[in-house]
Amino acid sequence: MDNENEYLFNFKGYNFEKSLVKMQIVENIEDFEIRDDDIFIVTYPKSGTIWTQQILSLICFEGHRNRTENIVTLDRAPFLEYNIHNLDYAKMPSPRIFSTHLPYYLIPRGLKEKKTKILYIYRNPKDILTSFYHFSKLLVKLEAPDTIEGYMKTFLDGDVVGSCWFDHIRGWYEHRHDFNIMFMSFEDMKKDLRSSVLKICSFLGKKLSEEDIDSVVRQATFKNMKTDPQSNYEHIIKHELGTRNDEGRFLRKGAVGDWRTHLTVDQSERFDKIFHTNMKNIPLKFTWNMNEE
Ligand code: A3P
Repeated sequence: MDNENEYLFNFKGYNFEKSLVKMQIVENIEDFEIRDDDIFIVTYPKSGTIWTQQILSLICFEGHRNRTENIVTLDRAPFLEYNIHNLDYAKMPSPRIFSTHLPYYLIPRGLKEKKTKILYIYRNPKDILTSFYHFSKLLVKLEAPDTIEGYMKTFLDGDVVGSCWFDHIRGWYEHRHDFNIMFMSFEDMKKDLRSSVLKICSFLGKKLSEEDIDSVVRQATFKNMKTDPQSNYEHIIKHELGTRNDEGRFLRKGAVGDWRTHLTVDQSERFDKIFHTNMKNIPLKFTWNMNEE
């Protein structure tokens, strides 16, 4: 199916946000020059990208931890394919941190060749659906959904930015041996942020003092990020991307299991069926509610 419409641009079977994508980057993405110490955050939209941008930049740069550098989170770990602030990636100091929603087959060749560190953050897809639904209502650059039922169909059909969630996670998981990649869930980060930060540090080979770890954790909590203008994206979405109303926030609830207040039992069961069919043989652990073990 051709997914192109006013909001989506389909390239090699994958949907980009039409007005933000930088075509000269995407067309030449395979050859994008990768440095040995680059770090990539890979996510499907609404899976905790900004949260991970914040955590990684706090871990990697003292100037962000102690706030001597006044750089918004988006620019600390810019999106490879959506260079919103037109940064010169070649001039960024090492280690560069990039974020991307790209599928495994559309990324720079160097990520495989150099075994660049990739952190893949995944989230239970019912909460992604819920988060995406609200975000699509808010952002003028996304098609506004009508009902959650209609949006569930759009999401499951992959007619959204990022295309089909199942394809994204399956693709990355099944090709994990081609990359130096660590998978981590939004829900594990939510359950125990400190342990997650320590796990990320160990993956990146970063040794931080207890005090520095405390500082990373403190600055990466939902409460802190929501009120911090550097990390809450308020200015960017309101004044640069454009919103349809004044109520919505990028950092909306940051919860696990909010889908329960949106999906009916019938919708949830239909979703489960599709999930089980599509996620066969993918042993990643999913947490659907916070009090689950
Ligand atoms: P909700 O809409 O469910 O609140 P992304 O950055 O990939 O677009 O993901 C956005 C989601 O991550 C939003 O989910 C947002 O609130 C949540 N999020 C961002 N920072 C967070 C944090 N520090 N703790 C928990 N959730 C966070």
